[in-house]
Order: sequence, then structure tokens, then C-alpha cells
Amino acid sequence: MAGASDDEARRFAEGLQSLLNWLHAPAQGANEVVALVRGSLGAAGLAESVVSRTLSGFEHVNLQTALDAWTAAEGRTVEVHGVVLPPHYGDISLQQLMTGEALPPVRLSAPTVVDLPDGPGSTLACLRLALLLVTDDTGRYVLLVQGPGEHRPTLSVEVAGLPVRAAQEVLAELDRLRRERNVYRGQLVEVTPTPMGGVELTFLEPPGLTRDDVVLPAVVLDRVERHAVGVAEHRAGLRAAGQHLKRGLLLYGPPGTGKTHTVRWLLGRMDDYTRLLLTGRSLGAIGAVAELARELQPAVVVLEDVDLVAAERSFGPGGSPVLFDLLDAMDGAAPDADLLFVLTTNRADLLEPALAARPGRIDVAVEVGLPDAAARRDLLRLYGRAVPLRLTGDDVERAVERTDGVTASFLKELLRRAVLEALHEQDPVEVVTGAHVDRALDDLLDSTQQVTRVLLGVGAEEVVAAADDLDGGPRPGLAPPDAFPGGWVAYPG
Ligand SMILES: Nc1ncnc2c1ncn2[C@@H]1O[C@H](COP(=O)(O)OP(=O)(O)OP(=O)(O)O)[C@@H](O)[C@H]1O
Ligand SMILES: [Mg+2]
Repeated sequence: MAGASDDEARRFAEGLQSLLNWLHAPAQGANEVVALVRGSLGAAGLAESVVSRTLSGFEHVNLQTALDAWTAAEGRTVEVHGVVLPPHYGDISLQQLMTGEALPPVRLSAPTVVDLPDGPGSTLACLRLALLLVTDDTGRYVLLVQGPGEHRPTLSVEVAGLPVRAAQEVLAELDRLRRERNVYRGQLVEVTPTPMGGVELTFLEPPGLTRDDVVLPAVVLDRVERHAVGVAEHRAGLRAAGQHLKRGLLLYGPPGTGKTHTVRWLLGRMDDYTRLLLTGRSLGAIGAVAELARELQPAVVVLEDVDLVAAERSFGPGGSPVLFDLLDAMDGAAPDADLLFVLTTNRADLLEPALAARPGRIDVAVEVGLPDAAARRDLLRLYGRAVPLRLTGDDVERAVERTDGVTASFLKELLRRAVLEALHEQDPVEVVTGAHVDRALDDLLDSTQQVTRVLLGVGAEEVVAAADDLDGGPRPGLAPPDAFPGGWVAYPG
């Protein structure tokens, strides 16, 4: 008799199938991490769904702060186990650790931590990849915490072993603690991009500038101040009258005229606000940052040099310019939130179409122009403060005249160069005279120094024309012209 009967063939196929099933069955207990998870969850816990939450990478330190408080709660015991994953293995999920399926070679270890700043001068050890075995009134369950790593910018928390509703409550409680103890509240924080496409938040020391350090027409500073701080002072009244608090301020003008300088002064002044500073590539993270600002209000979000992204398109489905995303994020905030957005640019022309297409985001635009003669005099005095300057009234007037059309930062540089000129003759410098200032100016304004001049902000004709516009404007609040009286003026160091 050749061949097998149908019945034999079927039995053979079934046998082969069960052999294959056995071969592919998860090697339960073979891995120590899987054994630990399965052992603590038990059959009932293993049957529940895993509930997970993904957070921005910069929330890592806040999650740790929340976990520390949560762990310390009465009636809760938490056992922390580190998990190690060899490099280049990507992520791991709690589901994988429950079933043991498609498992990379994970091992248990002491928890690895990353030391992250949780204040201007302090750090907190944050779990990088860890299992938390929890027992409390809700039951016995497991959390997997995964910090941002080489493969992804985000952070995740997963809960297993609880009914979905209860797991959601655990995550909500951690959210609440994260918000309540947010380390960025009331701080001055710079947002910078990370290589993985996320952002990093760095604490900055407040700049410590006073209004006198900013040489701009008083009307300009008043308007900035009124819009930024004045509105907040009437918070209750505005809300009661149903008016919005959220506001947008645009500072525009040529490079080196003091837009950033003004922002730094303002940020120092608003020290009861959470202040978030974005520039360049980090502007792309505006969505997450605006959300953080809403949580931590009252808050200021500074978007520096927004023209850098005016033309750049995002990777989103619409491929809209990043600038539009930025303006949309400003609009997403609740109108009664005490939020101030400050935008700076030296290309207001590039911004105009976007601002026109998304109206209502910016309510005040302030021009920061080139310094007029009185302002140039003030700048010489301001940056001459630390210099043993000995200038006659004529010296000062000559310098003021010759610097028509330059920027504020040019005048700052002029004094540095004058000190260098003096250093050729005396070291240490005892006195910087009109002759030194003249020589420094000769050098800076030399026609062969075209590029240097552009770098310092002595630009094309339109720049000079803008200076003329400003010359005509009122300048209340600035020191009177007799700040440099005739004769010798000494500036003690
Ligand atoms: N109006 C000003 N009063 C006093 N100092 C100024 C003023 N403007 C500029 N400076 C000095 O010059 C430096 C450079 O100016 P700042 O960075 O504020 O220019 P900006 O307008 O932001 O230019 P950009 O458009 O290139 O960003 C400041 O750090 C400050 O020291
Ligand atoms: Mg600037």
C-alpha cells in the first residue's frame, strides 16, 4: 500500500502544528524580567490591558518628582527594579515583558538613573528604564517607566495589572502631581533642540538688567511694559469684564538695536512668571511648549528671530510654514490664560503675510529702531561706565556725529575698540581719550572694512533712513543732552 491515508495525513499535520506551537510558545520564566512581571501580576493581572501614556522628553524630571511623591503616599509600597537592554535594541513594551514574546535580551539590574536639573542649581536622579512593582488599595500592579533614549525623544509610563479605569486613575494622579510640582514653574528656561528631534529645557539665571541698561525711547519701553506687565496687573478686572488676557507682542527692527536686550530686561522684570525662551530650531517645538506654558501660567513664551522659520515648512500633513504652526499654537491657548507671547524679528516684511493670514495673535507691534543722537550719547555713557573714559564735550559730539546710522551694539563695540587702542600705549589702561575713540572709529568705519561694518550693524542706506525716522520721534525719559557737559568728563571704573 503506497502513501498514507487521509486520516494519517491529518494526524501528521496536527502533530506538526502542535510541535510548531510548542517551538514558538513564549519561553515563560526563561527570562528573569518576564518571570518577575508575571510573578507579581498573577493570572488575573496578566489578563488586564496595558494602559500607557507618552510624554514629551522634557517632562522626565517632572515625572520623577511626581513618582517620588506618589511612592511616598501612605498605604503604598513600591519596589523598583532596573531593566537593562543592550544598546541599539530600541524600545521595549510592558506587553512584551508580560508575554515574553519577541523579547530582546533584557536583564534585571540596579536601576540606571540620569541626573537631570530640577532647578537653577540642583539636580534630581531620574529613572531611565525601570519596573515599579506596586501594592496599594487598588491592588497589585506594575509600572514601566522609560525615559527618552537614543531612539526616541519621548518618555513613557505604562500600567499593567489593573482594570483600564483604575490604570487611567493612576496615570491621572501622576499627571496631577507632575503639574503640581512642576520644576519649571516660575523659572526662566531656555528650550533647545536635541539630536533626536525633541527639546531640552535648561534653567537660566535671570539677566539682572535694569531699565537704565536699555537705551530706547521711553515710549517704546513704556509700551512694552504696559502690554507685558500692565495687562496682568488688571487680571481680575479684565476677566470680570469678559476680556482676554492672552497677548502677543512683536519687537521688530534692524539687527543689533536691542530687541533681545529688551526681552532680557523684560524677563528679569517678570520674575513671578514662568518664562520659556525659544529660538531657531527649537521654534518647531512650540506646540508642546505652549501647552507647558498654559499649565504653568502666568507665563511668557519668547519666540526669538521668528523670521528664521517664516519660510520653513513643517513635516505635518499640510506642510504649512512653521510660522503658521507657531501662530496656531498661540491661538490654541485659552483666551483667559495669563500668557504673553513675545516675538522678535529683524524681517518684519517676511512676517507680515503670515500675521495678516492669522490675525489676532499679535496685538502690539513695537519698532526697535537705530539710536538717534541723544541715544548714541547715552550708549557711550552706558558702555563707558566701566572704562576710565576721559572725553571732552567736543570729543563726545564728534563721536555722536560720526556714528549716525549705526546700531546700539556698534557703540558697545566702539568702546571695546577704544580700550584696545589705549592698550597699545598703556597696559593696564589708565585713561581712554577722544583720540582713542577717534582711532577706533577710523578703523571701524574704514571703507575697506565693509564686512566688519555689516557685522556690527552699519548697514545699507535704508538702515540710515530708518535712523532718520527715529530722530524725529519724541524721546521722553532719556537723559538730557547735558549728560556730557563741556570740559573733562571722568568715568570712574
Ligand atoms: N538699545 C540698547 N541699549 C543698550 N544696549 C544695547 C541696545 N541695543 C543693543 N545693545 C547691546 O548690543 C547687544 C546686541 O543687541 P541685541 O542682541 O539686543 O540686538 P537685536 O536687536 O536682538 O539684534 P538681532 O536682530 O540681530 O537679534 C546687546 O546685548 C547689548 O549689549
Ligand atoms: Mg536678537
